[in-house]
Amino acid sequence: MAAARIELLLRDGEAPSASLPTGVRDALARIARNGETEDELETSVIAADGRGGLPLLYYALDALARRDALSYRIASDDGTLATATCRTRLDLRTVDPGQPLLLSRFALIRRDGDTMTIETPLSAAHVTLTDPRLLPFLATLATPRRADELTAILPPDEVSALCTLFWSCGLFAGEQENDGSLGYWNFYDLLFHARSRKGRHHGQYGASFPFRLRTQPPPVAKQIASDDVVPLHRPELQGEFTSVIENRHSSRQFGEPPITCRELGELLFRAARIRDVYDVGIGQQLSNRPYPGGGAVYELEIYLTVHTCADLRSGLYHYDPLEHRLARIGDSSKALLQQATQEPYAPPQVLLTITARFARVFWKYESMGYALILKDVGALMQTLYLVAEAMGLGACAIGGGDSDVFAAAAGVDYYEETSVGEFIIGSRAEGDRQ
Ligand SMILES: Cc1cc2nc3c(=O)[nH]c(=O)nc-3n(C[C@H](O)[C@H](O)[C@H](O)COP(=O)(O)O)c2cc1C
Repeated sequence: MAAARIELLLRDGEAPSASLPTGVRDALARIARNGETEDELETSVIAADGRGGLPLLYYALDALARRDALSYRIASDDGTLATATCRTRLDLRTVDPGQPLLLSRFALIRRDGDTMTIETPLSAAHVTLTDPRLLPFLATLATPRRADELTAILPPDEVSALCTLFWSCGLFAGEQENDGSLGYWNFYDLLFHARSRKGRHHGQYGASFPFRLRTQPPPVAKQIASDDVVPLHRPELQGEFTSVIENRHSSRQFGEPPITCRELGELLFRAARIRDVYDVGIGQQLSNRPYPGGGAVYELEIYLTVHTCADLRSGLYHYDPLEHRLARIGDSSKALLQQATQEPYAPPQVLLTITARFARVFWKYESMGYALILKDVGALMQTLYLVAEAMGLGACAIGGGDSDVFAAAAGVDYYEETSVGEFIIGSRAEGDRQ
């Protein structure tokens, strides 16, 4: 009887790149047909290419994992127990049998198609639970259990493989789960955040038109709700404020010369500076700014990825709304700019990444916290749009981005503060509406 093992598998139709050394190519071709363990892959690569082949094997596996083409299957005599994909190569370290294990409070078990799955917003892990015995196994982990206690439910080799896989996918509670920045998050808000940003999931992202072939979209305006109608007053559209509102539009292409540091200063001063700080005795300082913010908590921060500015060095800057100044924190991130580039246009002159310091909101609000943050982003975006219009700048809101990429670029903790909105600005292109 063969022991349960974790095999690596490639998605159907994946062909290893011809530029890889023979041993790596052959190893990948084999796991495109049948799974093999990481040890088996490494042994065959060393035999064919020497130890120097290993970094290329890992590099190829990393690239395949990022494209969702690599999965990890627990195979036993009874067939497949579970299969995981995780957007990253998993660290398959054996879990100490004496270590207490507890299912993470962020783990989500649900039906997906005709199988059960377990997922978590702490990683991009998506594990298909093929064997129904895994459900009582997971239920046992509602309280801490050592791996060697779990062998009362499943054979030891299966327990060991499952613990290794679930651990590497981030499905067990870590020491910090209830403390520090992660401790502020509730399950629903973190799932909403991770699931609605790029990166930590396997779904399509953006305008993929999932219902295009199945249904017609609802009409542009809702059918009138009754025959009892009241025609409304139509104002004269005149005046400066009207002109700003009526002319506001999105610009995805920018002009020459590029935006200046003075214009950036004016935009941020008019839209986002702190006008006043005050205290109402609830234990949290509040502030007053040009845009409205839920509870006056003002959790949003603005970072500028300066690509081309007439008189400001390209780089990543943080806006200090209290002193109205920029702090340079690093080089401009190509990955961030690329995500905000609206093809076929060139990268924006400046990308504003709006982050939230989540604990400011979660300290006060429950259940509505994350939704409130996104509403605040909308209020800030509209204010930026209107100020940009009044100043004759080009501006466009962006539908999303990857919060892990931002956290890495800015060196911030994903759970403490990361991106929740993106907005691009620059000087107006010739021919853009004036
Ligand atoms: C929340 C939000 C997200 C948006 N995301 C994008 C985007 O990702 N790419 C883009 O080109 N425009 C984006 N836009 C701009 C809209 O496409 C634009 O507002 C809409 O087409 C109406 O055009 P107007 O802004 O010129 O009036 C976004 C706008 C909003 C408010």
